[in-house]
Amino acid sequence: MKKALDFSGKTVLVVGGSSGIGNGIAQAFRAQGAEVHVWGTRASAAAYAGSEGSDLSGLHYAQVDVAERGAVQAVVPAFQRLDVLVLCQGTVLYKRGEFQAEGFRKVVEVNLNSLMDCSMKFFDRLKASSGSLITVSSTAAFHATRGNPAYNASKAGAVGLTRTLGQAWAGEGIRVNGIAPGLVDTKLTKVTTDHPERLKATLQNIPAGRLGLPADMAGVALFLASPLAAYVYGQTIPVDGGLIL
Ligand SMILES: NC(=O)c1ccc[n+]([C@@H]2O[C@H](COP(=O)([O-])OP(=O)(O)OC[C@H]3O[C@@H](n4cnc5c(N)ncnc54)[C@H](OP(=O)(O)O)[C@@H]3O)[C@@H](O)[C@H]2O)c1
Repeated sequence: MKKALDFSGKTVLVVGGSSGIGNGIAQAFRAQGAEVHVWGTRASAAAYAGSEGSDLSGLHYAQVDVAERGAVQAVVPAFQRLDVLVLCQGTVLYKRGEFQAEGFRKVVEVNLNSLMDCSMKFFDRLKASSGSLITVSSTAAFHATRGNPAYNASKAGAVGLTRTLGQAWAGEGIRVNGIAPGLVDTKLTKVTTDHPERLKATLQNIPAGRLGLPADMAGVALFLASPLAAYVYGQTIPVDGGLIL
């Protein structure tokens, strides 16, 4: 049982591992012995120095804008073997931006289309290692989100993609599963967490009585990538303190 969470000798890539939830997941795999690579949007790891929620120490960083057409396909990764791929990239637009065609497309490109790009990019390596693919969608996939049609549609799409790749690639030895976070204080959610009244109202709806932490998401990511989850296929697990109950 203890050994199940030992990732020594394993290579992990966290797309969107430069900050927030993905960064917490990346550091958790590192703490369990893995060699961990992360992708983000800035030019270098140094460009994240001093940014809240970004600890790139001990991680291998590469700049890849997954919204740029062909960018994922063109990357030459800094590793050969890949055991775990975590797809944690995500974006959202406020102030009705997702009601504009360009805004809608941008969000879907990052939150959904790039998940498929990354999955296909690393299919061969995950198959070779009998590896694990973990998507990070959102509990927003399970209810309407006022003002954010693209975020909602893309996250619902991510849950469907997880289910379908989970089925399609089971026979290839790749386990595909997902995490649907509730509300975690990151730069993506400052619109709520920096707004005392909105935060108070949200907290009242969370049975656990607190916001989620990147570490809460990381625990489930470690579990899903480990032999403890050997019989879990195509599922997206809400990790939300009970928010959607
Ligand atoms: N926070 C929450 O309450 C919450 C709830 C449900 C779901 N989620 C999901 O959790 C995931 C992580 O979000 P977060 O809250 O941790 O926010 P975050 O701190 O803003 O992290 C988002 C990550 O995605 C990367 N990213 C964004 N656009 C990208 C692009 N075009 N190309 C490559 N990377 C890109 C960011 O890179 P940079 O660091 O360079 O910006 C960052 O690493 C997202 O999928 C989000 O939708 C979050």
